[in-house]
Amino acid sequence: MRENKIRAIATEEVRRALRQQRTDEVASDLDRLTERLTNTTSMAARAAEQVVRLEAQTRRIATEVAGRIVREQRGRLDRDQVRVAVRDELAGVLRAEQAEMRSQLLDLAREEAKRALDEHAPTVTEVRVVDAPSIRVEGETHHVLPDLLLALGAHCHVLLVGPAGTGKSKLAEHSARAFDQPFYALSVGPTTPMSKVFGYFDAHGLYHDTPFRRAFEQGGLMLLDEIDCGHPGLLAELNQALALGICAFADGMVTAHPQFRLVATANTYGAGGDRRYVGRQALDAATLDRFTLLEVPVDERLERRLALAHAPSQQDAVVQLLATVRRLRATAEEKNLPVMFSPRASIEGARLLEAGVPLAKVLQWRVLRGLSQAHRSALGLSP
Ligand SMILES: Nc1ncnc2c1ncn2[C@@H]1O[C@H](COP(=O)(O)OP(=O)(O)OP(=O)(O)O)[C@@H](O)[C@H]1O
Ligand SMILES: [Mg+2]
Repeated sequence: MRENKIRAIATEEVRRALRQQRTDEVASDLDRLTERLTNTTSMAARAAEQVVRLEAQTRRIATEVAGRIVREQRGRLDRDQVRVAVRDELAGVLRAEQAEMRSQLLDLAREEAKRALDEHAPTVTEVRVVDAPSIRVEGETHHVLPDLLLALGAHCHVLLVGPAGTGKSKLAEHSARAFDQPFYALSVGPTTPMSKVFGYFDAHGLYHDTPFRRAFEQGGLMLLDEIDCGHPGLLAELNQALALGICAFADGMVTAHPQFRLVATANTYGAGGDRRYVGRQALDAATLDRFTLLEVPVDERLERRLALAHAPSQQDAVVQLLATVRRLRATAEEKNLPVMFSPRASIEGARLLEAGVPLAKVLQWRVLRGLSQAHRSALGLSP
């Protein structure tokens, strides 16, 4: 009973002290920071944890002080004495705690500001390439872009390899923009005929050229997309063009323009299909040898920025979507599962969110669709 009474007095004192400390000592900028911090749930949770920890600590001290006084007074309870002692003892602790809390909140605020800057500030990529003024590209770009520009600046043909939806095709487009040259693209498939690359004569004897011909002859950046889906013979036909800069088109031999650049993309390294990318072609070693190979992994910063930009009114839902996609991606990677959680899913998912589709449906439609029962359970999802 006495214990409870002491506890009640101590608790009351603690609450009062906390209240007073807050109004007296917590500066207005701290309130501002706290308000900003509580805008994100994780930060709010951390701040709440801090308060709970502080309360528990001060309550424990107060109870100890009160208990000590009761012992010293041989069981007699002097409320005023308890009150004064608790207050004195708590003052120091609270000051230290608040200084600590303040510095932690400032750290959190800095972190938050850095994150916001990272998310919203425009990115500028600047690269110095051989024999040319430095190149500046503004906007959302993959972190591989500077390497790609360096390789293309050195007049190497580049093969970009990476999982689906990491931005390989977009990288080619961005590099054409960076070099300020025309961009041509051809998606290569198993049935793509030679004429799509080298051109053909029609029944009237008229030659029809191709995007590849234009890039090769007049200068431009050619994207040969998904070459591991293409017929290996088609690529082998390009070997001479890539190695010597001379190509046999349907209407004759053509010498490459000095500003002809070639970027190819593939999901595999040219060794044929795997569990994720079935039915891919093995690429000829002589073809592969003509390319500088750059890996294009998922750029999570780019993924986040693009997804957030696509759903300005659904930022919280996008953050949840991204967290789910990343968790599933990491698990799939760790367990080597043949399933894909690509940035494309995050970006399209964000678009759906902005269009008013609830998160649960977006996850169903864009992220979890078609997963087998075995994969669901391996990914830790409910059946
Ligand atoms: N830097 C970027 N800026 C804007 N959108 C981007 C950017 N990078 C990628 N995207 C978008 O992300 C999606 C996937 O990009 P992209 O098609 O380039 O990937 P990919 O690696 O070529 O995929 P796949 O291997 O399936 O062909 C597209 O919708 C694309 O518009
Ligand atoms: Mg592509």
